[in-house]
Amino acid sequence: MVKIGIIGVGTVGEAVIKNLEKNKEIIKARAGKEIKVVKGVVKNLNKKRDINIPLTTNYKEVTQDPEIDIVVELIGGVDKAYEIVKDALLNNKAVVTANKALLAYHRFELQKIAKTPFEYEASVAGGIPIIKALRDGLSANHILEIKGIINGTCNYILTEMKKGRNYQEVLKEAQEKGYAEANPTFDVGGFDAAHKLLILASIAYNIDAKPEDILIEGIENINLTDIEFAKEFGYEIKLLGIAKKVKNQIELRVHPTLIKKEEMISKVEGVMNAISVKGDVVGETMYYGPGAGGNPTASAVISDIIEIVRGNNSPMLGYKIPLEIENLSLKPIEEIESKYYLRIAVNDKIGVLEKIAHILASNNISIASFLQKPKEKYVKLLFSTHKCKEKEIKKAIKEIEKQEFVIKPINYIRIEE
Ligand SMILES: NC(=O)c1ccc[n+]([C@@H]2O[C@H](COP(=O)([O-])OP(=O)(O)OC[C@H]3O[C@@H](n4cnc5c(N)ncnc54)[C@H](OP(=O)(O)O)[C@@H]3O)[C@@H](O)[C@H]2O)c1
Repeated sequence: MVKIGIIGVGTVGEAVIKNLEKNKEIIKARAGKEIKVVKGVVKNLNKKRDINIPLTTNYKEVTQDPEIDIVVELIGGVDKAYEIVKDALLNNKAVVTANKALLAYHRFELQKIAKTPFEYEASVAGGIPIIKALRDGLSANHILEIKGIINGTCNYILTEMKKGRNYQEVLKEAQEKGYAEANPTFDVGGFDAAHKLLILASIAYNIDAKPEDILIEGIENINLTDIEFAKEFGYEIKLLGIAKKVKNQIELRVHPTLIKKEEMISKVEGVMNAISVKGDVVGETMYYGPGAGGNPTASAVISDIIEIVRGNNSPMLGYKIPLEIENLSLKPIEEIESKYYLRIAVNDKIGVLEKIAHILASNNISIASFLQKPKEKYVKLLFSTHKCKEKEIKKAIKEIEKQEFVIKPINYIRIEE
């Protein structure tokens, strides 16, 4: 029998315990051994719970229990989780975690410490087996690009806004439905998606970067004019996590993105997640499913436990030896190239258009399309551009915003084609 200790018995922890029990026959058949949760760790012992295992508040009773084979970390957060996982690894426990924040900061340190199996399937896109797909199923490939809808809350908000509903109203509803936290910044600001993107990028490219190193923008400034523009020009707006190999540099970025309606990933609606991975051998592959929730996440956590019990031993981030030959580095944010959509609110005056076109041109930016939307008191000018560098568009935006005819900060969305 394989004995499990679960640290954190909340939404995911409870679902893991219940599903290990509910599906115990098929899990035993697949793992080859019986799997039993023998202890759980929580913060508050007085909380009412619908499970029947011994509980403690002292994580060392799990990480240092010689009877326990696998430690499952499900408390979330960075520092305490790092302390716990490190202690488990140093005590030779195999570890399973669903904690993307922990991995976004410490995956390379943990990889160094881990002499035992370490699995983290649930940390990206909940129930979708993207870690194993990327690390094991696609291991013959150079990964050319990853594009993912990896935050269900943002996708839900953007899907609802297409029905003409405004951002604030939909965000409030997402909070009421439990999709978004009381403080939703982590989701709508793109940080949660960035954590997941970093994990995927380290498997795809063995690249070590922290959230602070990469481009992260959220969906807070998207409004109905942008949604209308997207419709009119055949796009959808999605918050994407993008990892891309450009020569020997890796672009990592999270931001709202205009993508063509025909692309498969454009069709992903509501809270669902989807990830497209392009490999040089396989071509484009696509993974779709529920990115959160107790049961979908438990499905991934339990698959990790089974993997460990079976004795499979893929390296944590997928590399037996360092990837030095590729000499890959992180592309500086200001060098990233993209096409852009710009929304500029101006007073309706002669010469405005000419001035804006001049500023764009003097920053190496050429206009691809233009649309004018008259409002009651001002005019909205909508531009799309050809490809330019991040530093060029930012400089042009600053210059345009200084003009006296501009009446609000300029909004922009990157276009991915
Ligand atoms: N929920 C999802 O849909 C989902 C999806 C993918 C990944 N994840 C990840 O899974 C992990 C768990 O998420 P969750 O939604 O299950 O969280 P949760 O419902 O808030 O549960 C957290 C659990 O950890 C316990 N805990 C927190 N701090 C602790 C500490 N310092 N010492 C001991 N126990 C502590 C809590 O104890 P009490 O019960 O006593 O408060 C609770 O049982 C997170 O890393 C999250 O990012 C979650």
